[in-house]
Amino acid sequence: MEKMHIKMTVNGKNVDLLTEPRTLLIHALREELGITGPHVGCSSSHCGACTIDMNGMSVKSCSVFAAQADGAEITTIEGLGTPDALHVLQEMFKEHHGLQCGYCTPGMITRAYRLLQENPTPTEEEVRFGIAGNLCRCTGYQNIVKAILEAATKMNEMKESA
Ligand code: FES
Ligand code: FES
Repeated sequence: MEKMHIKMTVNGKNVDLLTEPRTLLIHALREELGITGPHVGCSSSHCGACTIDMNGMSVKSCSVFAAQADGAEITTIEGLGTPDALHVLQEMFKEHHGLQCGYCTPGMITRAYRLLQENPTPTEEEVRFGIAGNLCRCTGYQNIVKAILEAATKMNEMKESA
């Protein structure tokens, strides 16, 4: 199959990818660009393990062709924080034990990031509704919700003191 050029910005870097039109975005990210934070869970847009941020929206990258991301601005968990400088959401997930196996975590945190961009002061119910497309098999969600609410408070305090 003839390959096509796709240009996108991934975690602040310009990327020029030569791939087949049938390549799914999750596979382009993981296998062609080595960005392995987003995971493959269900491959059918149910679990949210593959969630990325694309053009300011949470997107399940198993349900999008890489070709559809041509010209897009993409952020994955790798673009939110680093091991030495965790994002507040990552810190709060760590502090409140919002993860166990961690398989859902990159997608969950990337989704929570967009949720807090859209609604910086969510209620518990809004957080639960906001992450409804991201499944976690381990935690029972309680600590995830706690971590996101605490991250919201901390992010708002940081904004006020800036
Ligand atoms: S792998 Fe994409 S939603 Fe499950
Ligand atoms: S921590 Fe295991 S699936 Fe969420």
